[in-house]
Amino acid sequence: MAKNWQANRRKDHFYKKAKAQNFRSRAAFKLQQMCERYRIIKEGDIIIDLGANPGGWCQVAKELVGEEGLVIGVDLKPIEPIKGVHLIKGNAKSERVKRAINEILEKEREKNIKVNVVISDMSPKISGNYHMDHAVSVGLAELSLSFAEEYLRPGGGYVVKVFDGDMTHDFFHKEIRTRFRMAKRHSPIASRSSSSEIYIIALGYKGLDKEDLVEEEDEISDDSEE
Ligand SMILES: C[S@@+](CC[C@H](N)C(=O)[O-])C[C@H]1O[C@@H](n2cnc3c(N)ncnc32)[C@H](O)[C@@H]1O
Repeated sequence: MAKNWQANRRKDHFYKKAKAQNFRSRAAFKLQQMCERYRIIKEGDIIIDLGANPGGWCQVAKELVGEEGLVIGVDLKPIEPIKGVHLIKGNAKSERVKRAINEILEKEREKNIKVNVVISDMSPKISGNYHMDHAVSVGLAELSLSFAEEYLRPGGGYVVKVFDGDMTHDFFHKEIRTRFRMAKRHSPIASRSSSSEIYIIALGYKGLDKEDLVEEEDEISDDSEE
């Protein structure tokens, strides 16, 4: 009971803070906190944001990349326009969404250009069945990882939300840590306590030709799971 009250109070606190700062969601603070701590997004970067409605993460990403950067947000639901952000309504699973992303990248930059960071806050519709919600959430995380593989440039960054559960361990160790030089599990203060969601932050994408980075990787101290 006391825990619930605390969680609600925290939710309320971030809700008010989001309104005061003109952010569209409390979720905006989660990305802000992660970026403050890990410097995931830099000025001038190109970002793909999956599961972007109502647009809080897009707002934070746009602030960080500035005028020179590029942010592309994707969601099943329509998103109210955000100045300087390209928005695509559609299912991230569909080829149409990828075609739309490719068109924006080609128009704004150049054909086949790679991006700096892929972020995904995609969530399933909660069914109430914990195991089912966990499994669907891991499926969405895997979908976002396929975007990272297709679009990230070597050295790029990746942030993904997942509802924690028994499949998270394999996803983290077998799928993320093998593809990135640094990976961490993170619970932002804005979502802690009542929620089972965690974020995985991964930096230094190895690219498809992973051998290129082996020497460099050896020089980096192991900075893995918290
Ligand atoms: C928690 S919300 C994202 C909040 C957002 N990061 C913000 O700051 O405003 C999760 C979103 O994931 C979207 N989503 C879930 N599955 C998706 C899919 N297959 N393709 C695109 N969006 C999806 C949902 O429509 C929902 O709007």
